[in-house]
Amino acid sequence: MLAAAVLRLLDFLGVVRKQAILSSIGGAALPPLKFQADGSFQISVFEDLHFGENAWTTWGPQQDINTVKVINSVLDAEPSVDLVVLNGDLITGENTFLENSTFYVDQIVQPLMKRGLTWASTYGNHDSDFNLSRSDILAREQSWAGARTTSMISGDTVGVSNYYLPVYAADCTSPTASDCTPELLLWFFDSRGGFKFQQGGPSKHQLVGQPCWVDHAVVEWFQQTNADLVNSAGKTIPSLAFVHIPTNASSAFQNVGVNAHRQPGLNKDKPLSSQAQGWCADGTNGSGCKYGEQDVPFMAAITSTPGLMAVFSGHDHGDTWCYRWDRRLPGMDIKGNGVNLCFGQHSGYGGYSNWVRGARQVVVSKEKLADSVVDTHIRLEAGNVVGSVTLNSTYGEDSYAATPNGETQCPTCAY
Ligand SMILES: *[C@@H]1O[C@H](CO)[C@@H](O)[C@H](O)[C@H]1NC(C)=O
Ligand SMILES: *[C@@H]1O[C@H](CO)[C@@H](O)[C@H](O)[C@H]1NC(C)=O
Ligand SMILES: *[C@@H]1O[C@H](CO)[C@@H](O)[C@H](O)[C@H]1NC(C)=O
Ligand SMILES: *[C@@H]1O[C@H](CO)[C@@H](O)[C@H](O)[C@H]1NC(C)=O
Ligand SMILES: *[C@@H]1O[C@H](CO)[C@@H](O)[C@H](O)[C@H]1NC(C)=O
Repeated sequence: MLAAAVLRLLDFLGVVRKQAILSSIGGAALPPLKFQADGSFQISVFEDLHFGENAWTTWGPQQDINTVKVINSVLDAEPSVDLVVLNGDLITGENTFLENSTFYVDQIVQPLMKRGLTWASTYGNHDSDFNLSRSDILAREQSWAGARTTSMISGDTVGVSNYYLPVYAADCTSPTASDCTPELLLWFFDSRGGFKFQQGGPSKHQLVGQPCWVDHAVVEWFQQTNADLVNSAGKTIPSLAFVHIPTNASSAFQNVGVNAHRQPGLNKDKPLSSQAQGWCADGTNGSGCKYGEQDVPFMAAITSTPGLMAVFSGHDHGDTWCYRWDRRLPGMDIKGNGVNLCFGQHSGYGGYSNWVRGARQVVVSKEKLADSVVDTHIRLEAGNVVGSVTLNSTYGEDSYAATPNGETQCPTCAY
């Protein structure tokens, strides 16, 4: 009893100390991200957390408790994480209440604050609904000292979570010094979707849909900003990108066939859901259109950005594979350049499906970065690792162990 109390007190003091180190005025004052002295940089990607399901039942809040446990278990098993990415659908907006819909952020970030970890989010389609606004989620995140999430483009139609974070070498003392150029860029894109905040309603069929692709103004901003960064660095900068909803290229590849050994992972959401699905080419929806092709400029950008190694998505809870897009896929005009398109793992107990929860880990090393190679694996809630692969030039030809298709054995957690 006493020992437990002492541990709790130490735990509490730890939180206070780390929060003090991280500064008390939100992410704006955080020091820049850096590689470790050994040249490593690890990202832990949680996605589809779906907090805030059915608060009026005992089931809903229990799912949030279960999801906090997932975050803790994964981070306990991955002691070298340098940055956490929350890759969309933090909250299930359709079930939340106007007056407290963003409060769930506090539960999500506790396991991160406790460890002194900082994080960066993209928002998903469930993060926008009648009672939930993306900009309010951002404000709630930024009230916590560990938030690196920000918004670099303003405007009503571009979404919110569009920004980049540079990662510097361990020995970089001042990132503004000319000898300190970024070693790695992390890009975050907002694929929007869901429904507009406090518009239409109150009944579900009156809600106003929000386009579900990366806006074209964001694509232009990305290309221009990347060109400026490359220009001032005087070198190609290796990069990784995060966006909640995958592109049509992932659908096109799934049609061709996902091989359990070459692209290990679950492939259960088939056909998968991707950007601009359900929209017409003229930007309207509701007329029975299947796909409006509005993600074409984004796909063109990610296949023509030197140094961009991989794009990580969530959204399709039953898909967890990585695909090296190195060819023209049937039905598509755009040709892949070798960029990897990866799903992560459904991390939350909220949201559809009951596949075992976990989180994709992305392990970058300065040594492998020189060859545009990154390692990645999925850490499951129980502590085991699946789908450990090296995203190198022969990924897609190399053979790996297939990922077992386990479901969570827990009678009270199933959706
Ligand atoms: C939000 O309010 C509802 C209704 O009062 C309540 O059931 C729920 O627990 C609240 N959620 C949070 C995160 O405060
Ligand atoms: C939005 O929140 C209000 C206030 O809590 C609640 O009465 C209403 O049912 C919610 N609406 C939806 C569509 O969830
Ligand atoms: C999207 O992918 C499908 C295959 O799933 C293909 O038929 C279609 O032509 C693709 N569209 C574009 C614009 O690439
Ligand atoms: C309209 O857009 C919303 C939001 O993206 C989507 O959920 C809905 O399915 C779309 N409707 C149709 C008929 O495609
Ligand atoms: C890519 O990584 C795999 C797994 O480590 C390895 O077997 C393969 O030889 C590597 N390919 C190259 C070109 O190094």
